[in-house]
Amino acid sequence: MTSAARIRVLTGITTTGTPHLGNYVGAIRPAVQASRQAHTDAFYFLADYHALIKCEDPLRSQRSTLEIAASWIAAGLDPEQVTFYRQSDIPEIPELTWLLTCVTGKGLLNRAHAYKAAMDKNHAAGHDTDADVTAGLFMYPVLMGADILMFKAHKVPVGRDQIQHIEMARDMASSFNHLYGEHFVLPEAVIEESVALLPGLDGRKMSKSYDNTIPLFAPSAQLRKQIMGIVTDSKAPGEPKATEGSALFQIYQAFASTEETAALALAYAEGIAWGDAKQLLFERIEREIAPMRARYEDLLAHPAELDRLLLAGAAKARQLATPFMRTLRHAVGLRALSSGANPVAAAPAHKPALASFKQYREKDGLFYFKLVGPQGEVLLQSAGFTAPREAGQWIARLQQEGAAALADARACFPGLTPEGEPAAQAELEKIKNSN
Ligand code: TRP
Repeated sequence: MTSAARIRVLTGITTTGTPHLGNYVGAIRPAVQASRQAHTDAFYFLADYHALIKCEDPLRSQRSTLEIAASWIAAGLDPEQVTFYRQSDIPEIPELTWLLTCVTGKGLLNRAHAYKAAMDKNHAAGHDTDADVTAGLFMYPVLMGADILMFKAHKVPVGRDQIQHIEMARDMASSFNHLYGEHFVLPEAVIEESVALLPGLDGRKMSKSYDNTIPLFAPSAQLRKQIMGIVTDSKAPGEPKATEGSALFQIYQAFASTEETAALALAYAEGIAWGDAKQLLFERIEREIAPMRARYEDLLAHPAELDRLLLAGAAKARQLATPFMRTLRHAVGLRALSSGANPVAAAPAHKPALASFKQYREKDGLFYFKLVGPQGEVLLQSAGFTAPREAGQWIARLQQEGAAALADARACFPGLTPEGEPAAQAELEKIKNSN
């Protein structure tokens, strides 16, 4: 299979917070699985420039990058098989961001959901429209466009809230391609419908903003304690329990096989005690997570190994980004002044040179003219005129009428031979057509 037939899948992971089970089930696990598919080249990166928009604490930024990188590797991502890198290790990304900024309508960015939400919040609070809105938040979609377009991604797996950003990246790609040639691939968003939305401790969607998350790699004892805290109804042991609407059941389902899930459903019907069901859930999750946790803790203890791994990923990514950026710079006109593709300098070379008329006066006091071809050959040589005006008038007619005027002007060129005439006619036609 040729490389052109391969599908390039790219996604970014914002480096804020500590990964929780919802991130694992909803993003990490499916992405790791997708990266193993045939005919797929996966580009997964830590969007740490994006994270700066939300986090101004350097230690937290660094810590979060460490934890997220370690989580993905521990969850089975093979850095040999995919291109796994840190956005801020690719200087071509901010460079491309500027080129895209220059082809992106400000109005397009005004319509971005995140920016509009910030404005709405300010309006509701009676604040200035842009109070506390950084230009970073406003420019977020352009940086994301650069992430995607730099690597000519075909497919971008994202959550629903990111679809607009992919559409904006397509807009930027189209504008750029229209102006400067077909450089960018138009990306498509991929929304994983089948991926489970994991409920959190309180039954609502597991999310940092609800403070109901279970950290992915919490120590075993903490994991157990948190699972014991998942809300249930107050049915007593022995009473049949409904799987419908049970957060406990849904989380179990996200980790278990079909058979295991059916077995738990039966236990629910037979009135399993909540404490026992929670113990089953803990054991099931622990079975999948424990080996990963060991790897995770090992990576956290050896951050230099992660640095090395991420820098190797960045080197791989830059093998594409560096030459592509060079092409893009050239395309927009950021290039050597001596470059042959300078259209102004190149123009005369592309335009075929024309024959030209030369007027001059000889020692005999008469006025002459000649038609000189592109290579300097004399195509027509006039007899002498007493007035320069006369010569000028013939030149004007020959320039305007081309070969047709040569019949009338024939007498001006006593030395013109039948063999020499076609060349002169051809050159005169070119001059006429260039007017
Ligand atoms: N904005 C994305 C999110 O919040 C993260 C991200 C940054 C991203 N750059 C990207 C996702 C490029 C896909 C492609 O989830």
